[in-house]
Amino acid sequence: MALAVTLILTVCFLLFVNSGSLPTNYEYFTSDGISSGLSVDQPYFTLNGKNFSVYSGAMHYFRVPRGHWRDRMKKMRAAGLNTIETYVAWNLHEPYSGVYDFGDGGTEMEDFLHIEELLQTAQEEDLFVILRPGPYICAEYNYGGFPAWLLREKTIGFRTNEANYLKYVKRFFEKLFAVVNKHQFTKGGSVIAFQIENEYGFAAYKDFVPERAYLQSLYQIFLDNDVVELLITSDSPSVEGDEGTVDGVFQATNLGTDPEEQFNKILKRQPNKPLLAMEYWVGWFDFWTGVHHTTETGTVLEVLRRILEFPASFNIYMFIGGTNWGFTNGASLGADSFNNSEFMPVTTSYDYDSVLTEAGDYTDKYTVVKKLIEQYSTIPTNTPAVPNLQPKIAYPTITVQKRLSFSDIIDKNAPYVINSPNVVAMELLDINNGSGQSVGYIVYRKENVDLAAETVLMIEGHICDTAVVLVNGVLVSPVLKSVSDIDGFGYWRLENSTLLLNSNPISNATIDIVVEEWGRMNGGNIYQYNKTFKGLWQGDVYLNEDKISDWKIIPLEFKKEWTNNLQGWSDKTSNDGTALFYAALEISDEPQDTFLDMRKWTKGLVIVNGFPLGKYLMLGPQQTLYLPGPFLRKGTNDIVIFEHFKANDEVSFALKQIWTVPDTVQ
Ligand SMILES: *[C@@H]1O[C@H](CO)[C@@H](O)[C@H](O)[C@H]1NC(C)=O
Ligand SMILES: *[C@@H]1O[C@H](CO)[C@@H](O)[C@H](O)[C@H]1NC(C)=O
Ligand SMILES: *[C@@H]1O[C@H](CO)[C@@H](O)[C@H](O)[C@H]1NC(C)=O
Ligand SMILES: *[C@@H]1O[C@H](CO)[C@@H](O)[C@H](O)[C@H]1NC(C)=O
Ligand SMILES: *[C@@H]1O[C@H](CO)[C@@H](O)[C@H](O)[C@H]1NC(C)=O
Repeated sequence: MALAVTLILTVCFLLFVNSGSLPTNYEYFTSDGISSGLSVDQPYFTLNGKNFSVYSGAMHYFRVPRGHWRDRMKKMRAAGLNTIETYVAWNLHEPYSGVYDFGDGGTEMEDFLHIEELLQTAQEEDLFVILRPGPYICAEYNYGGFPAWLLREKTIGFRTNEANYLKYVKRFFEKLFAVVNKHQFTKGGSVIAFQIENEYGFAAYKDFVPERAYLQSLYQIFLDNDVVELLITSDSPSVEGDEGTVDGVFQATNLGTDPEEQFNKILKRQPNKPLLAMEYWVGWFDFWTGVHHTTETGTVLEVLRRILEFPASFNIYMFIGGTNWGFTNGASLGADSFNNSEFMPVTTSYDYDSVLTEAGDYTDKYTVVKKLIEQYSTIPTNTPAVPNLQPKIAYPTITVQKRLSFSDIIDKNAPYVINSPNVVAMELLDINNGSGQSVGYIVYRKENVDLAAETVLMIEGHICDTAVVLVNGVLVSPVLKSVSDIDGFGYWRLENSTLLLNSNPISNATIDIVVEEWGRMNGGNIYQYNKTFKGLWQGDVYLNEDKISDWKIIPLEFKKEWTNNLQGWSDKTSNDGTALFYAALEISDEPQDTFLDMRKWTKGLVIVNGFPLGKYLMLGPQQTLYLPGPFLRKGTNDIVIFEHFKANDEVSFALKQIWTVPDTVQ
């Protein structure tokens, strides 16, 4: 009997080793049933009672095309990771107040919002999940993940215990957790932990002391919604101390190059618990007109080795950075900027110099991460083979065929025309069933004015964020040429900015001021959150000394339905902006990933098959836009470009992202 058992065990062991069939993560951790989740009740992590180390990589589902989720996860698992981490973007899941979308809900970003499919796919690819639902996520994302319609509230105290704010948080979390809760690990799903808020200690500003009571309220909301897995807060304790912590919630840390310093600080407050670098930054994000940031592979090797050696667990931020599609990028405001003067928009690419490129390709960092995990991991689970690269293509250059003039955009396609005595912020427009305008452009039109010779337009306050001015459909504000132009008219930095409209008198003129929302603040000064409106709203607009009143206001949100049905296109005879331009991309085979090379264009927005792909700016640092195969189709693809200044005859393609150094670096 004993012999027989030994024999069987030996045979099993040999089979196990010889066939290379180590168990999967889920087999290893759950094949005997699930009785507990991720635990920090001892100086190391356990999962379902077995020793565990979190080897995680960040991938934000809203920054990666749904058609590529599985490919990216396979590459992460093949690197030896056992977990992926993602934020949840409230502003996408509730784009209008009380309107929710968790996939195919009919809103503009619906395809990215299949969060259950994401959690399920992770499980199929043998990965656990850490979910960070905020409600505030920073993430260099538009408004740090807050829906812009919250700005319509008379009183609202973002990231505090203020009742109105908490009411909306609670309402959204009830919807969110109703969707994701069945995917918790101890209920048989993939989610092993949740993070509460995000770097809340960092919210300290002048006399504002982060409110522990607020974190306590959030904690209670998680519990009330049947969240049963491990809860975590994360800050960099050497900077923010323990201001962002809450009793009973595990504290993790974010870090760049100083793991021991952060870990030792945490151990003082939280002895006899394991350590987790919730964000280990292997790269960094970029601002328009700033430099493209990179981090040496050697540095990543060294810091990650020190994290593992300590020993600690990690989440690599970002494992794949991805893309800030269309209107989704965030922005920084300088700490003391109370009026948009120090606004800095984040680029469309969120490549982040991460482990996988924006387009999912391997980098040297991938080899380093994979080697280190192999070296340090003691959990005997099967690591699948590294997947092949996905093919890329640079499609042949296409010709721009059609143009839709600015006058025709408005006269033939205005989605709404709102009459208003004064200029108004986009968020306060009475559209979208009481949710206002969150994204895109807002046009302030004044008709039937007689302009004396040399009339000067003056916009009180700051522009939020850029503006071009047209008189009778002709661009009169200066064409952008260099980084220093951003100090002039048409950008956020000037207060009470002026523009000479005409030299000779013009009677019965139409003036259009087209204002772009170029990204809402994703962090910083707490007192700015409830003031960060977009458009013109800080004062009045004047012609010489006369205040303009009785405006027509036209929101341009570039909704798919609208862009796909534009009327009034004509053959392109001019490259003059501000206008829309159209080119057709014919594809006969299976579409593949590509990049749009925008170096010959000036500034604007590219829309592909109705989807706002991204903003571009010839100043750099980003010169190309990642265009994933899943956004394309066999046959004709519609490339529509909203160019502020000067278009080009062609659209060309590239095989990879092209970065340049802007002429004057900020
Ligand atoms: C789990 O890890 C701890 C700390 O490294 C170690 O002391 C313990 O023996 C491990 N338990 C098992 C079952 O391997
Ligand atoms: C705006 O937010 C600040 C900081 O939380 C708060 O003190 C202030 O009362 C808020 N204002 C309004 C009008 O809600
Ligand atoms: C508009 O909002 C009201 C009240 O919030 C709601 O009852 C109605 O269904 C909404 N309509 C649409 C079209 O979303
Ligand atoms: C801008 O105009 C406002 C109101 O007219 C005035 O209070 C403010 O001082 C002006 N700012 C500058 C920099 O001129
Ligand atoms: C003024 O311009 C508008 C178009 O904006 C036109 O419809 C109207 O006839 C013009 N009026 C005069 C007096 O020229």
